[in-house]
Formats: sequence, C-alpha cells, structure tokens
Amino acid sequence: MEAHIDLRAATAADRRFIEDMAVEAFNWNPDRASLSREKVLSDPQLNKYVIDWPREGDSGVIAVGPGGESIGAAWLRFYTAENPGYGFVSEDVPELSIGVVAGWRGKGVGTALIRAVVATAGRVSLSVERANPARDLYLREGFRSLSSDKDADTMVRD
Ligand SMILES: CC(C)(COP(=O)(O)OP(=O)(O)OC[C@H]1O[C@@H](n2cnc3c(N)ncnc32)[C@H](O)[C@@H]1OP(=O)(O)O)[C@@H](O)C(=O)NCCC(=O)NCCS
Repeated sequence: MEAHIDLRAATAADRRFIEDMAVEAFNWNPDRASLSREKVLSDPQLNKYVIDWPREGDSGVIAVGPGGESIGAAWLRFYTAENPGYGFVSEDVPELSIGVVAGWRGKGVGTALIRAVVATAGRVSLSVERANPARDLYLREGFRSLSSDKDADTMVRD
C-alpha cells in the first residue's frame, strides 16, 4: 500500500522549488554530467519549463513532507508551435513536468503528484528519454507513446 502523501496546489511562492524540480528532471541520469541550476535557468530551451512561474494557464501540485517541507512537484504548462516543449503535441495540450527530491523517490510521491495534476486536466503530454525509469511510471499512469525519436518518447494521456 502506498503511504499517504499530503498534496497542495502550487502557488507563486513555489517558484524556486519548481525551478529546483526542473533541474532534477533534466538531471535524471546520474551517468551524465549534470546541468547546473544556472544553466537550466538561462538556456531558453530549458528554462521555458519554469520561467515566469506561474504564467497564465499554468497549474501545479506540490507534495509536502512530514515537516511541512516540499518534497516534489508536478506542473502543467502550455507551449506554442513557435516555441514548443520537448513533448509538444498541440497548443491546447499542456505538457507535464515532474520532479521528486532525491531522498523521497520510489515511495509513491510521483504517482500521487501525477494523479493529482492530471485529475482536472483533459489531454496532457510529456517527453521522456527512453532510458529513464520514469517512463514505466507514466505507462502505469495511463500515458501512451505517441511519437518517438532516437532517444525520447512523446507520450499523451487522454
Ligand atoms: C520520476 C519521478 C518524478 C518519480 O517519482 P517517484 O516518487 O520516485 O515515483 P513513485 O514512487 O510514485 O513511483 C516509482 C516508479 O517511478 C519510476 N522511477 C523513475 N525514477 C525513479 C527513481 N529514481 N527512483 C524510484 N523510482 C523511479 C519507476 O517506474 C518506479 O517504479 P517501481 O517502483 O516499480 O520501480 C522521480 O523518481 C524523479 O524525480 N526522478 C528524477 C527526475 C525525473 O526523472 N523526472 C522526470 C523527467 S521526464
């Protein structure tokens, strides 16, 4: 059975934590040189996932640990055809980003976050590298692969 995990809606005050979780998401592969927070926040291909949080249309969920600390975040943002996210499928389909603080992974936090953030959304997309074990989690939570390139899949959930 999964442990109970406290969740709350993300607000403007969560910007820094959401930025941290975006850095975690880009650095999922421990065998690869990690991208610094500064790099993620200054590179337009990377910072588009978090810049100006919260923008109109953004929504997110924060998982809260026993001491009230933030332990994970999942958020949805819309992108444009001119400036798409990696998992872009359409301007009216938001893309999911997710990260859980390292010491809290594998305990059901990510599952709870995904369920909460998609609960009120229609179609949602995401991009995941094929080697990332997060792909299995997405499959389990109802995402299917829509298109693939050499290393990554674009997945959607209806
Ligand atoms: C992916 C991630 C958000 C999942 O959150 P989580 O709280 O670890 O997930 P849960 O405990 O609810 O589910 C566990 C499942 O997630 C997947 N998973 C992915 N990365 C994992 C990790 N580092 N540790 C444990 N499980 C992981 C596995 O499929 C696992 O299933 P299993 O328990 O049968 O092996 C989290 O592990 C994380 O932040 N990873 C690094 C950043 C990342 O990869 N973000 C997504 C980029 S597309």
